[in-house]
Amino acid sequence: MPQPDLILRNARLPDGREGCDIAVADGRIQAVAPALPATAPQEVDCAGQLVSPPFVDAHFHLDATLSYGIPRINASGTLLEGIALWGELKPRLTHEALVERALAYCDWAVGRGLLAIRSHVDTSDPRLVTVEAMLDVQRRVAPYLDLQLVAFPQDGVLRSPGGLDNLIRALDLGVQVVGGIPHFERTMAEGAESVRILCELAAERGLPVDMHCDETDDPLSRHIETLACETQRLGLQGRVTGSHLTSMHSMDNYYVSKLLPLMAEAQVYAIANPLINITLQGRHDTYPKRRGMTRVPEMLAHGIPVAFGQDCCMDPWYSLGSGDMLDVAHMALHVAQMTGPAAMRQCFEAVTTAPARILGLDGYGLEVGCHADLVLLQARDPIEALRLRATRLKVWRRGRLVAETPPAAASLRLPGRPAATGFALSRG
Ligand code: FE2
Repeated sequence: MPQPDLILRNARLPDGREGCDIAVADGRIQAVAPALPATAPQEVDCAGQLVSPPFVDAHFHLDATLSYGIPRINASGTLLEGIALWGELKPRLTHEALVERALAYCDWAVGRGLLAIRSHVDTSDPRLVTVEAMLDVQRRVAPYLDLQLVAFPQDGVLRSPGGLDNLIRALDLGVQVVGGIPHFERTMAEGAESVRILCELAAERGLPVDMHCDETDDPLSRHIETLACETQRLGLQGRVTGSHLTSMHSMDNYYVSKLLPLMAEAQVYAIANPLINITLQGRHDTYPKRRGMTRVPEMLAHGIPVAFGQDCCMDPWYSLGSGDMLDVAHMALHVAQMTGPAAMRQCFEAVTTAPARILGLDGYGLEVGCHADLVLLQARDPIEALRLRATRLKVWRRGRLVAETPPAAASLRLPGRPAATGFALSRG
């Protein structure tokens, strides 16, 4: 076995293994075991802290990110005003500005240990300036971040003139995933028709599907049923994702008891976007006010893989965000009331292993032979990482250190007590 380039010593792994050394050679994990006898030119003492594979964001809008305030702020904070505001911004978009903002966000992401993103790209503008800019970004970030692009017809493939043609042109340019927005088409029937057309397009081209699906509080928005049915009809099992699925929150329980097995049978994936949907849904409610997030624990119990997405960051729909998938999982945990230890671990998996599976990432994980894409956190386990939204102390991509952040620690000077330094909010 060749000498490793790098060894991480005394790491704790997300599955609970303690005292592990991780040897890295040629950008891949060479060995994972306690007290490896090998030595390496670079060795890092992890001091019993958590080493995880990188965070993965299964749902984002990189073409809109960091545009907060351009040309104005979303005053109502609603989804529909956000879509209208994006419509005002679109004619002003330039290739250079789109690339500059997207690259800035990717820098934030890497600093947060987020090394893979699936981004929807609006294909509604016939200029396709967003598509060309995001393909450019994809090429530029490839050495340090896996960016997967979805052709997303924000204005509807049937509702907007040329919507389907523009989406097909985006696929011809190299966009890798077929998107959709059936609940935004003019009628339920046209929404279902859009699902059929887009799934057939994906089947013809051998592409995956990821649709914005039922992002509404209307319990009768049931396009996920059509999506699951088309998945089975066209043999697309394991290649189709329903994003948002917020109407499921409001659906009748009897109907959901029939829907979830259908989704599981079709091997459809689900992506919840907790930061965005806790702020956008229930806007027509007085009190009680619905939370609006889809039924995450119930889907997991049916064996439906669920990931959490950031969705938006400082854009027409959401004024906050920082590329931190621990923030996303922390919110999901609260909204879904996933507070038991096993459920909290599932929340960590929903921003790491689950989205890696949905994106079909090659060589992801901590097994021997996987890419040496690793994050050292200032936390002892996934639950503490969530609780503290722990500092990402070091981030490696293919065995190369790409980001470092100093540990979070306070110094206390309390009356009647000796000064204390290096105070961290850990019980470890
Ligand atoms: Fe979205």
